[in-house]
Amino acid sequence: MTGSDYKIGSGYDVHRLVSGKKLIIGGVNIDFHRGLSGHSDADVLIHAVCDAILGAAGLGDIGEHFPDTDPEYKGISSMILLEKCGALLGKQGLQIANMDCIVFAQVPKISPYKKKMEKNIAGVLNVDAALVNVKATTTETLGFIGKEQGIAAQCTLLVKVISPKP
Ligand code: CDP
Ligand code: ZN
Repeated sequence: MTGSDYKIGSGYDVHRLVSGKKLIIGGVNIDFHRGLSGHSDADVLIHAVCDAILGAAGLGDIGEHFPDTDPEYKGISSMILLEKCGALLGKQGLQIANMDCIVFAQVPKISPYKKKMEKNIAGVLNVDAALVNVKATTTETLGFIGKEQGIAAQCTLLVKVISPKP
């Protein structure tokens, strides 16, 4: 095998907070009076994880694989997209070493849901939940996150090369 035995990927996503939508983050339905807008279920954390996976695999980004103009993906659970990304990673001979995620939200409080989010992500990707970490931070009322106009998420991922690229 040539080169490194590990690869990294990173993902970042933002969705607008609006009235009349459910708030789904990390595959968890969060009790809140507003939700995230988007073509799919707008699960900002899962989108960041998908992008990190695609990045580590050298396969572009989520918009290329699941265009928001495609009716097939309208309202779709982002967990299905995550499952597809996980399968693509495996096909590239790559295995998740660990991931570390951040949800940037002024509101609501994310900490009661973090463990469930980790479990959901690990479950879909078929890895030990100890390899998945979810954190949260406010932006101290600064910027669009601080003004409660949107929520952002970021994922940093390390993958192990287990077989040479087909
Ligand atoms: O991030 P920092 O410690 O500077 O302070 P903070 O943004 O006020 O976050 C304090 C704690 O609240 C962190 O440990 C986060 O895990 C948690 N938090 C949360 O549960 N939900 C949020 N929307 C933001 C922060
Ligand atoms: Zn998104």
